[in-house]
Amino acid sequence: MIELQHVSKAFNGVTVIDDLSLHIARGEFTVILGSSGSGKSTLLKMMNRLLEHDSGRILFADDEIRSFRPEAIRRRMGYAIQSVGLFPHWNVEKNIATVPTLLKWPAGRIHERVTELMTLLQLDAELYRQRYPHQLSGGQQQRVGVARALAGNPEVLLMDEPFGALDPVTRGALQLEIARIHKAFDKTIVLVTHDIDEALSLATRIVLLDQGRIVQSGTPLQMLSSPTNDFVTDFFGRSDVGIKLLGLQRVATHLRADERAAGEPVLASLSLREALSIFLSRQVDRLPVVDSDGQPLGVIHFHDLLDLRP
Ligand SMILES: Nc1ncnc2c1ncn2[C@@H]1O[C@H](COP(=O)(O)OP(=O)(O)OP(=O)(O)O)[C@@H](O)[C@H]1O
Ligand SMILES: [Mg+2]
Repeated sequence: MIELQHVSKAFNGVTVIDDLSLHIARGEFTVILGSSGSGKSTLLKMMNRLLEHDSGRILFADDEIRSFRPEAIRRRMGYAIQSVGLFPHWNVEKNIATVPTLLKWPAGRIHERVTELMTLLQLDAELYRQRYPHQLSGGQQQRVGVARALAGNPEVLLMDEPFGALDPVTRGALQLEIARIHKAFDKTIVLVTHDIDEALSLATRIVLLDQGRIVQSGTPLQMLSSPTNDFVTDFFGRSDVGIKLLGLQRVATHLRADERAAGEPVLASLSLREALSIFLSRQVDRLPVVDSDGQPLGVIHFHDLLDLRP
């Protein structure tokens, strides 16, 4: 879907993206992680030509990104960013409707789409649609930004710290919503974040950047269980890697199918992290496991969880 081949970018002679190659497949949820200044935003902005790259090639759907007209890119790639963003002199409705208006949708359809997206992002449509950005909280502005990115039903969503200003509860709800949109509509999503837990829970693939280069990329599980060097290990934090690993795996993949045990059963779909807290609160060393219909599947052992921890 998006392919970068040996892409470099410098600002004032300082290299910020350094000979970087990356392939983002259709339908993937790629999360770009890295410390401040590592080049995450620059990388994202080059994907939709908000910034031009100096050398190398960037392909979108097999064509050079430079060959697309800017309107075509805007229609096919939604973009949401934390800080810059909403047009200050346009109300919420007009902001969200940017791409549909560009696409000359009929007024009624635009109105409906705005209502639908505001509801999706938990903004009261009647209360907020006529407001201007400065009359909204930071978190509400962010949600309008995400709604605007989704409005034209783009194939690709590019998001730069879209949930940065949100409280943990709203942030969690929006993360769930984005995960749902990813699955339901088969979108290709590229999201930049500082938040390691956000990356681990959302990504099908994490790309860890340092000084404009990819240090490692892989599934969340690979990043935690097979870090290629100390930088990766340090980045994900040595202390609670075990707990994070448990959060990524399900009871279903670690049960002993040929055993049965007594007691209140747990669901096979639980994460091992949730299972761990049940073990600890019940003070038992094994738990019976059932499927969603309550059929016994086997037993999970406390010691099997401990063996997983590095
Ligand atoms: N327009 C610009 N002119 C000059 N330097 C820039 C420009 N944009 C970014 N840089 C520099 O490029 C480097 C990478 O910036 P970038 O915004 O991509 O980092 P980032 O990983 O997104 O950081 P953060 O997590 O703080 O948002 C930084 O050193 C930054 O100062
Ligand atoms: Mg940034």
